[in-house]
Amino acid sequence: MFDNNLIIEDIATFFGVSVTDLHATPIRKLSENNIWKIEIGQRNFVLKRHFIHAPINGCKFTPFEIELNTLKVLKSKGCNVPKIIWQSDKKQSLLIEWCGNQTLDDMAQKQSNWHPIVSQAISQFCYIEEAFKKSQENLTAYVFPVNQDKKLQEILGHCRKTIFYIIQASKKEKHSTHQKRIDQCWENISNYLFSKPKNLGGLDHNSHNILINQQKVFFIDFASIGWNWQTQRLVQSFNSLGTKQDTGNFVSLINPETIETYMSISGQTKVHNDIDLHHLLFYLSIIHRILRATSQPNHPDSIRLYNAWGDLKTRLERAIHIIIKSNLSNNFEANTIRQIIADCWLR
Ligand SMILES: Nc1ncnc2c1ncn2[C@@H]1O[C@H](COP(=O)(O)OP(=O)(O)O)[C@@H](O)[C@H]1O
Ligand SMILES: [Mg+2]
Repeated sequence: MFDNNLIIEDIATFFGVSVTDLHATPIRKLSENNIWKIEIGQRNFVLKRHFIHAPINGCKFTPFEIELNTLKVLKSKGCNVPKIIWQSDKKQSLLIEWCGNQTLDDMAQKQSNWHPIVSQAISQFCYIEEAFKKSQENLTAYVFPVNQDKKLQEILGHCRKTIFYIIQASKKEKHSTHQKRIDQCWENISNYLFSKPKNLGGLDHNSHNILINQQKVFFIDFASIGWNWQTQRLVQSFNSLGTKQDTGNFVSLINPETIETYMSISGQTKVHNDIDLHHLLFYLSIIHRILRATSQPNHPDSIRLYNAWGDLKTRLERAIHIIIKSNLSNNFEANTIRQIIADCWLR
């Protein structure tokens, strides 16, 4: 394991205080925790140590270098991301500004009046998207050379299969009744999504990477960046999974009102179809994971999923409910799939 004492000494020296003035609390209650809250008197910081000390996935830089440079660039453009206070290249560690102890995920699980914060978070999301666009030259070298088209192709494949599983599981309909319609929809959905341009942004978007501190929203975790679809990132950021929470379940913060906010801030007009389709794929992928875990309950991945999500039947019902009830666009294909699932599930 890492020797934290040494790094704590370095930080104490940096602040000109004694080691005993500095209080470190692990943020994750796991043996492999790599994030600590650091308190020095009334001031709070976060120490993030990167475990991976070598470039991965064919990237030229380590996750530490990617995060360090991305945070610097985004901060220089005025984004709400944590400021870097101190760094150790040798120990691949960053001491960054404290951004509060509430994540958007926590808020979505506990509160229902989340609209003001979500509006602010969408506004910051768009601001960061713009900052990435303006900083392409400085950031291109840090991009993960992951084939996003291939990833989307795989997601589409899993999701298509999942629709047939849902039909079969309902036992009310035969798979063959809908085969032709689903295949046609799937071809159109694929063609549509692949025709959309990708842009540069973070590759780890989720509602745990959005923090709220005294009503101010921060985006964190930029250890990987690359080219993918903005509306896919929006969907990933604004859906809460409620992982490892006793009564946790999926909560979608994407609705006609939040789409309206996104359009007015980003200045984009034709986004309903994209958001609806990525949202549909997001929940079909979740159902795919649940069904796979239920069919192989002893597999280590399945055990991990049970531990993270609890009762998978409740989770499955919520995911289907969100798909059926989402009213995000007039997209013919999304609504056809939604209708087929509703007919099988509700009858
Ligand atoms: N600047 C920060 N302020 C407050 N909490 C933070 C900060 N950075 C990270 N955290 C906490 O630590 C968690 C993990 O940090 P993150 O940078 O997302 O690491 P990972 O790459 O492991 O997901 C976050 O979800 C958040 O709860
Ligand atoms: Mg994270």
